[in-house]
Amino acid sequence: MGWINARRRRPVAGYAALLLGLVVVTLLYGAITRTSAQAAPTTALQNIANGKALFQATCSSCHGLEAQGTSQAPSLIGAGAAAVYFQMSTGRMPAKELGAENERKPVTFSNQAILDIAAYIQSLGGGPPIPTAAQGSTAGADTGLGSQLYSANCAQCHGFAGAGGALTYGKDAPPLTQATPTQIYTAMLTGPEAMPVFSDGALSPQAKRDIIAYIVDTRTEPNPGGFSLGRTGPITEGAVIFIGGMGFLVLIALWLTAKRREPWDVAQSQAQEAQEAQEAQRTAGTSGTEH
Ligand code: HEC
Ligand code: HEC
Repeated sequence: MGWINARRRRPVAGYAALLLGLVVVTLLYGAITRTSAQAAPTTALQNIANGKALFQATCSSCHGLEAQGTSQAPSLIGAGAAAVYFQMSTGRMPAKELGAENERKPVTFSNQAILDIAAYIQSLGGGPPIPTAAQGSTAGADTGLGSQLYSANCAQCHGFAGAGGALTYGKDAPPLTQATPTQIYTAMLTGPEAMPVFSDGALSPQAKRDIIAYIVDTRTEPNPGGFSLGRTGPITEGAVIFIGGMGFLVLIALWLTAKRREPWDVAQSQAQEAQEAQEAQRTAGTSGTEH
């Protein structure tokens, strides 16, 4: 015990214990938010029902009440969740007006609403599902091979640097500077407008990942700002901010309170003590008693 106490009194041990505490709290925080995020989603049936209601409210005017299609817009039976995800997450759908080329627009739906509508469309007649995070992951992908595959399959429309390009009939292929890996993947799976479908037979899942890695890799677009932290997501970012920010504040607080008394502080308090003593003497003098 004496050994521990001796060590505990050392300030360094205090700081280390504090940092350890912060790390433990952060890990707990991560674990808790992760499990609650997993527990939160409603059942698949509820998602489909919710997606159907949203679809009938916002999409059915063009695509029909049961997504069967109308004279204005194609049937979505068999289009698959991937098509809904691509169209909605890039803001192309819901289309504003008929006839215009559907371009990337700000997204007005929550991610959950998009996933619900996607689940509804998927439930109608199958089609390509949304790739999982693992399927879309570019970890370990071969960007060299991706570059060759891109030149052979995509460059004729999107340009060699992915800057986009003009197509016939006044249409154009958009630049590939904004699409997320999942959006690139779902674009290949569903072939929007003039773009062909690249089935897994035409481009294997691994080839798709190589292409995605190449597109993401060659972006000249500057970072939107700050450290990207590898873009690993809110939990890591939260952890870094928590450990870094809170740890820093707490260390500052420790430093302030543990601050050594400076010579002038000492002089000041000595002067104050002297004054108090004088005053005590004076009151003692008037009452006539002496210490
Ligand atoms: C103003 C009419 C209009 C509205 C509203 C609309 N769409 Fe569309 N949608 C179209 C048209 C026209 C096309 C075909 C354009 C094309 O060829 O890309 C289309 C294409 C699509 C496709 C691509 C189909 C495929 O086979 O790849 C999907 C998916 C889609 N819409 C989903 C939706 C969803 C989901 C909504 C509601 C959130 C919606 N749309 C609202 C007109 C509309
Ligand atoms: C024949 C021309 C053509 C080819 C080949 C082509 N695309 Fe496209 N691509 C298009 C067009 C046109 C659009 C716009 C569709 C729309 O707006 O509905 C598009 C859209 C996209 C988008 C969406 C961009 C965004 O930010 O909204 C991505 C991603 C994409 N293509 C990736 C690819 C990849 C990867 C390949 C090669 C495997 C490829 N494309 C091959 C014509 C093409």
